[in-house]
Amino acid sequence: MKKIIAFLMAALMLSLCLAGCGAKGKTLADVEAAGKLVVATSPDFPPFESLEGGEVVGIEVDVLKLICEELGVQLDIVQMDFDSVLLGVQSAKYDCGMSGITVDADRQKNMLFTTPYYNAAQVIVVKEGSTIQGKADLADKTVSVQTGTTADKGCTDAGIAVQAFAANADAKAALTTGKVDAWVVDNLTAIQMVQEGDGLVILEEKMTDEPYAFAFAFGSEDLVEKIDTILKKLIEDGTMESIFASYGETYIKP
Ligand code: ARG
Repeated sequence: MKKIIAFLMAALMLSLCLAGCGAKGKTLADVEAAGKLVVATSPDFPPFESLEGGEVVGIEVDVLKLICEELGVQLDIVQMDFDSVLLGVQSAKYDCGMSGITVDADRQKNMLFTTPYYNAAQVIVVKEGSTIQGKADLADKTVSVQTGTTADKGCTDAGIAVQAFAANADAKAALTTGKVDAWVVDNLTAIQMVQEGDGLVILEEKMTDEPYAFAFAFGSEDLVEKIDTILKKLIEDGTMESIFASYGETYIKP
């Protein structure tokens, strides 16, 4: 009897695992049937997504609102740390990742990306008067980054000592309070987050060039294809440019 119960338990666990492991991204028909697109985001990344009185606002929110309008579904935003956005999308827990996500070869092994809609870059932020003038000066220094970002991976791979923080604001605070020598972050976010009186400067030399796109789980191929046609239209007809302009940013087509 005990053996039979043990066998049944093992069979049950195996089938649960298979169901979980095989989770697939939603198709266009799935999203239409659900009537909503569930979007994961880390809203600590102005001007792309940030919190304003508890509400998530920003360039990517405006873009996805238009996309959802075209799809005829509601936009349902779920907030979390950046590294959870990537994991949650990859495992199809959420339909879409919206977080100024950089398309790179490693991530493409684990998820789908829409057509890139913007070319961003990593920049180095230092305290006024710092001796750090560019990439080359970071070799023996410590930098702060947001956990799981391309800044985290890029600096770690380059052999630079990294302190990673779940929240972007904490990565900035580590620099302001002198815990690290520099903060590596995406260019437009640096411009938005470095304020007068912070005593911080953004260096001229860029660390990288990297395209942003929205992320989906494998299985969402037809949904991504549909969203791509909408995105391309928004880029071509000048809508993207006016969204960027409404946040005080100049839009440059990728
Ligand atoms: N572009 C970088 C990356 O993909 C950073 C994105 C951080 N996004 C955020 N919403 N905090 O790794």
